[in-house]
Amino acid sequence: MGNLLACFFSILKRHKNLNSLQDYMEKLPMEVPTTSMINGKDGFHVQLQEPNAQSSEKNRHTPNIIDNHTFSNGLHAWNANCCDAFLVSPSVKECSPKSCKRHAVVTNRTQNWQGLEQDITRKVSPGSTYKVSARVGVSGTRLKGKADVIATIKLEYQQSGTKYLNITRTAVSKDEWANLEGTFVLSDKPDRIVFYIEGPAPGVNILIESVCILCHGKNEPCCYTDDGNIIVNPGFEDGVNNWTGRGCKIAVHESMGDGKILPKSGKFFAATAERTQSWNGIQQDITGKVQRKLAYEITAFVRIFGNKVTSSNIRATLYVQTPDSREQYIGIANSQVTDSDWTQLQGKFLLNGMQSKVVIYLEGPPPGTDILLDGLVVQHAEKIPPSPEPDIENPDYGVNIITNSNLSDGTNGWFPLGSCVLKVMTGSPHILPPAARDTLGPHVPLSGRCIHITNRTQTWMGPAQMITDKVKLYVTYQVSAWVRLGPGATGPHNVNVALGVDSQWVNGGQVEINDAERWHEICGSFRIEKQAAKVMVYIQGPAAGTSFMVAGLQIFAVDRQARFRHLKRQTDLIRKRDVTLKFSIPDLSNIYGTTVIVKQTQNSFPIGTCISRTNIDNEDFVAFFVKNFNWAVFGNELKWYWTEYQQGKLNYKDADDLLKLCDDNNIAARGHCIFWDVDNTVQDWVKNLNKADLATAVQNRLTSLLNRYKGKFKHYDVNNEMLHGSFYPDRLGQDIRPNMFKTANQLDPSATLFVNDYHIEDGCDTRSTPEKYIAQILDLQQKGAPVGGIGIQGHIDSPVGPIVCSALDKLGILGLPIWFTELDVSSINEYIRADDLEVMLREAFAHPAVEGIILWGFWELFMSRDNSHLVNAEGDINEAGNRLLQLKKEWMSHSHGHVDEQGEFKFRGFPGTYEVVVVTDFKKTVKKFVVEKGDDPLVVILDP
Ligand SMILES: *[C@@H]1O[C@H](CO)[C@@H](O)[C@H](O)[C@H]1NC(C)=O
Ligand SMILES: *[C@@H]1O[C@H](CO)[C@@H](O)[C@H](O)[C@H]1NC(C)=O
Ligand SMILES: *[C@@H]1O[C@H](CO)[C@@H](O)[C@H](O)[C@H]1NC(C)=O
Repeated sequence: MGNLLACFFSILKRHKNLNSLQDYMEKLPMEVPTTSMINGKDGFHVQLQEPNAQSSEKNRHTPNIIDNHTFSNGLHAWNANCCDAFLVSPSVKECSPKSCKRHAVVTNRTQNWQGLEQDITRKVSPGSTYKVSARVGVSGTRLKGKADVIATIKLEYQQSGTKYLNITRTAVSKDEWANLEGTFVLSDKPDRIVFYIEGPAPGVNILIESVCILCHGKNEPCCYTDDGNIIVNPGFEDGVNNWTGRGCKIAVHESMGDGKILPKSGKFFAATAERTQSWNGIQQDITGKVQRKLAYEITAFVRIFGNKVTSSNIRATLYVQTPDSREQYIGIANSQVTDSDWTQLQGKFLLNGMQSKVVIYLEGPPPGTDILLDGLVVQHAEKIPPSPEPDIENPDYGVNIITNSNLSDGTNGWFPLGSCVLKVMTGSPHILPPAARDTLGPHVPLSGRCIHITNRTQTWMGPAQMITDKVKLYVTYQVSAWVRLGPGATGPHNVNVALGVDSQWVNGGQVEINDAERWHEICGSFRIEKQAAKVMVYIQGPAAGTSFMVAGLQIFAVDRQARFRHLKRQTDLIRKRDVTLKFSIPDLSNIYGTTVIVKQTQNSFPIGTCISRTNIDNEDFVAFFVKNFNWAVFGNELKWYWTEYQQGKLNYKDADDLLKLCDDNNIAARGHCIFWDVDNTVQDWVKNLNKADLATAVQNRLTSLLNRYKGKFKHYDVNNEMLHGSFYPDRLGQDIRPNMFKTANQLDPSATLFVNDYHIEDGCDTRSTPEKYIAQILDLQQKGAPVGGIGIQGHIDSPVGPIVCSALDKLGILGLPIWFTELDVSSINEYIRADDLEVMLREAFAHPAVEGIILWGFWELFMSRDNSHLVNAEGDINEAGNRLLQLKKEWMSHSHGHVDEQGEFKFRGFPGTYEVVVVTDFKKTVKKFVVEKGDDPLVVILDP
């Protein structure tokens, strides 16, 4: 999926799912720019607010009264009337350029009237006109010529029997799809109404791709009235008509490469020729065919040819021009393809604003290599049905799933992965590692026995167990163990608890060890979301030849609800404040006993989100944003590569637009980021500067940005990800980091200056442990850097509360405010995603050192991680989104009661704005007041 719209530089920070045993250390996470930017041909992601943007509120939901109209949910809601039905989902092979959709096949028909039906009883009302449109076909050996397919309505009356109403019919032959279209009006209200599709002679199968029944005159977009593909001549039957080369030539072929390359389907395919730039390719103008705020999906078959390149990336990109002629490139799909077979390219996109020109094109391979294309389909994306709520039986919270963990039975249950040797020894800690203790509470002591692993000839060799039958889908497991290097070993070595899930490597936690002197805790977590044939856990990591020891390995399911109960109590203690409303009135007896109703209207705790310039054009996005968030951060628009992509050409327009949106809605903004220390995020011209010029450029960047926005951004991330990169100190020396902080502080003393990094809180990255973060902050402070806040990005997988909390506790010793600055969680299942989000929000909100939480986006296709959105592309709030809203509701304090003898009403509530309703002498007074953050009880004087 190429959802690169929002965060133009996609952030590939997940590193829990890698394939190889050996290279995992090289493949640790980093933020990587998309190639479009590297190509240096990019315009900026700028769009104008269109003058007559209409709310699409009304046409967001297609009011089709047919349920499951494209069979996305199997045959749910449908019934085969005295015959059989099944679904065909064209596989990649069967997919033809004209139709790649699943459809129902109605078969074993022995009467003309047998077909597929759906009950629509409560969905139609008398007097209205309904428009029927269905996409149908026929098949079967008994088929001769054309067959009639009929749409019929059956009306059942308890009193007067059954009536049939033929709505429309169409004659269709094999190998074609036809539109079945007609209208109907009911004059009365039958007891039961069934719509069905029937008609052909017995033995002929009916094929049904989609069915729509819409209330006529509402002018709603219908489902497919044709095959849905907005691409013209997708299979090249019409030669190169409607296609052009983008900076190169194109031609249509029946075969290439001495007949070895044949079309994927049909008779023809297209190929580019004479490409001289990686952005050259084949394109089609689709201006006017895509509607803003609707999600589209693309499918294409592609391969490469020539120039001795056997494998390359191919991307589908949209070139968009706004009505004021500004340009935008949007990556929509991306796939590694070969010269030996056709590969399917898939992706999804959504345009927020109006466009005066939209062109879709394929690009990517090195110059000289041809791009081959067969069958490009761009159509309105089907809605993904909501996730089912996972039903987890007997999760056995807290029960260790490792066999013979305490080694009382030799090495029974364990086996050596590879040719290493396992031996049981004694002398390991009897206490449980701290993170496990935090989660499990009181626990029997460990046995003091450990496994010593020797004769290791590969880094991945270590003790292993099969746990296939013990891990349950969608359950979050915590991992905990003691590890130590063998006698005489010196580090640093990484030790890692790894899960081999079929062919995938999943990180269950890792620790870096420098010495053989003592035991080290390893902690982490994982979750499996797809049924696996084989799940193995093993401990690995130290260099070949280094022996190590493992003790007390525990893997257990985490009871999140139990933790939530604890966090709610904690939240109450640390976030709420005692408030006394004091009514100033001369005669207190006049008010004694009066009813008081206190209602919180806003919680002032900062909860924010990432936004991008293009989101401003989507009024649905903006509405959700301003309603639910009080802080913001900009995805890319303030980054140096954005504001000065070419040296000296400054672009602050996008950041200005975003800042204005925030200002207009009283939303505070973080400045992200002045610099970014990771090498491959630095734009080319900066990389190419010599030392003196780089020092000047750094100074100019600081002056330009901070003078322009003086007093505007409340925070700055001064130099992003200093634990994961060192571009600036490598070139300018160690003092550059503290100097950036000092200069920023001089230029805008009002801004709090943050460090900002990732994988601080999850135990899975040895480069960014809380200990290393603390050391880095102390070092900066020693060199005079005014570090004012700690940013934890929070791109986390399968979070475990006590692990996150333990990291926060450690960082808390610095006495600086901690913010989650880029929080996102990812799960295919929206309920699990909601749970992950709840874990993070509750941990953060219950921790006294945390002073704000910013999400890294919330809208599908405008986030850097897949399966992390809270609102889908067309505006439907999913379970994860609902969970956020529920928590925000929970974090509002309401109270009611009566004024006491002292003329006071006391309650405990979250800081924020309140309304109080007081009823005196038949007069109802409504007053507003504010509870500021603070530890002391607050007295609010009210004059009712
Ligand atoms: C496709 O190309 C043909 C030939 O140039 C042209 O007549 C036709 O109008 C084009 N179709 C569309 C939808 O642009
Ligand atoms: C070790 O585990 C076994 C069963 O798994 C248990 O019976 C035994 O008491 C344990 N011993 C210690 C010392 O924890
Ligand atoms: C393990 O290594 C030791 C020392 O190199 C060697 O003596 C021993 O034979 C090896 N054991 C096995 C089972 O390979």
